[in-house]
Amino acid sequence: MATSEQFAGRVAMVTGAGSGIGRASALAFAAGGATVGVCDVNDEGGKETVSLIEDAGGKALFLHTDVASGDAVQEAVDTLVTTYGGLHFSHNNAGTHAMALTGELSEAEFTRVLNVNLLGVFLCMRYQIPRMLEAGGGAIVNTASIWAQTGMPTQSAYVASKHGVAGLTKTAAVEYAAQGVRVNAVAPGYIDTPMTAGNPKEALTAILSRQVIGRAGQPEEVAAAAAWLCSDEASLITGAVLNVDGGYLAH
Ligand SMILES: NC(=O)c1ccc[n+]([C@@H]2O[C@H](COP(=O)([O-])OP(=O)(O)OC[C@H]3O[C@@H](n4cnc5c(N)ncnc54)[C@H](O)[C@@H]3O)[C@@H](O)[C@H]2O)c1
Repeated sequence: MATSEQFAGRVAMVTGAGSGIGRASALAFAAGGATVGVCDVNDEGGKETVSLIEDAGGKALFLHTDVASGDAVQEAVDTLVTTYGGLHFSHNNAGTHAMALTGELSEAEFTRVLNVNLLGVFLCMRYQIPRMLEAGGGAIVNTASIWAQTGMPTQSAYVASKHGVAGLTKTAAVEYAAQGVRVNAVAPGYIDTPMTAGNPKEALTAILSRQVIGRAGQPEEVAAAAAWLCSDEASLITGAVLNVDGGYLAH
């Protein structure tokens, strides 16, 4: 379990931090003593996350960042390095989805989802890794999904993007292990967040028939895994896609 000062003096960047899993992750890094760059396109949610961190005695900065824009990601990374002296951890977590059968999904929707979920993760790592190398090492966690490993009807763009995130994670892990940058992913199952709040009840029932723990997950349970993967306790772990799924993929 994380100790309260394990990230003291370190800087973390979390995307999609204005809501759900990203907010919980930003709070977890801050609780461990890190200064957190709270990145999101949702200004209200992002600023609220910063307030929650500050109210708990932590330190954070909101950075309006569209992860699908290389310029925006580079600016966020540079701002954190300039303001706080370095970048040590990141949780690349911003995500979106589109619901339609593959034969009916528009090209624009497919591209929109891939740009946020896959290009966004690439752009984050593209600009974070050189800064982590400058800092002498670091740790990255990308948010994949159980659907990085299986198909799911009506979610072809999402499933494709998450399979891609798993591949990017493993490749960057192999590339940078010797230089002290570990790269892993979390693969959440069904988690109670604003993203899933609008789902029909039948969707949850269907998923819980396989998410054998018998309940939806909480964002804090994914955040704890992400923070642990960045901690020294996970020093031998790189290139892993860690299921945080209540047993969904176990059968
Ligand atoms: N909730 C689940 O059941 C579940 C399961 C598996 C994986 N995930 C993944 O977890 C991650 C977080 O999802 P969540 O459930 O917390 O959803 P959420 O909707 O609560 O949070 C997603 C956040 O990403 C932000 N975002 C969207 N597009 C962005 C962009 N272009 N640039 C920056 N930020 C952007 C949103 O504004 C939002 O704050 C996503 O990658 C999602 O695919 C969620």
